[in-house]
Amino acid sequence: MKQIIVAIDGYSSCGKSTIAKQLAQYAGYRYIDTGAMYRAVALQAIRKGILSDGKATDIESILEFTRIDFAIQPDGTQHVTLNGEDVEKHIRTLEVGNAASQIAVIPEVRRFLVAQQQQMGQAGGIVMDGRDIGTVVFPKAELKLFLTASPEVRAERRFKELIEKGEQPVMADVLADVNDRDYRDTHRAESPLRQAEDAIVVDNSSMTREEQMQHIYRIFDEKCK
Ligand code: DC
Repeated sequence: MKQIIVAIDGYSSCGKSTIAKQLAQYAGYRYIDTGAMYRAVALQAIRKGILSDGKATDIESILEFTRIDFAIQPDGTQHVTLNGEDVEKHIRTLEVGNAASQIAVIPEVRRFLVAQQQQMGQAGGIVMDGRDIGTVVFPKAELKLFLTASPEVRAERRFKELIEKGEQPVMADVLADVNDRDYRDTHRAESPLRQAEDAIVVDNSSMTREEQMQHIYRIFDEKCK
């Protein structure tokens, strides 16, 4: 059977990565979390002290020395690596998420990561999730899904995730963060988050995970027929 490219875009905390991971497993495809790549660059920028007041100074100087990869774990999950170091845990904080959204507006950063993503997916057989996969990275992807859910539902999910990670979030901050990130992701000049014309929209505000996955598996199977 033909190995297609599945592009999954949508707002933050929509469950994109969970869905993408599960679909990749169902299809026997490779999963690529492009948000993790932006987060890894953001972590590098924080560590190098080049982020201040939401602006990055001299980002080119760090990109040259930034190598991002995915290391497959014994349980099949993937951890992002930054210059060989497993940084999976470090990139999943609110601080790094915010920094990622800030550095994601920089054209050099996008060019740097998009080129790597296109190379990773060129042979097909991948599920890639992010904000610009169906519009910029793979505008010809055979299947494009656009995920959405209300900001309140997403803030609730993010809140629970942070608690599970041992953080002590404040609900109002998490909701404000979701709204800020949405605004930045959809209003930036460079590759803003938008729905590709041929994307299938999945609003999962009131779907259970199981309902949603069955819905997506049906769409995928139909596409691969
Ligand atoms: O999906 P995420 O929350 O891990 O992504 C972190 C940030 O990276 C998010 O604010 C937007 C940015 N991003 C992007 O601009 N383009 C992508 N393809 C993936 C993520």
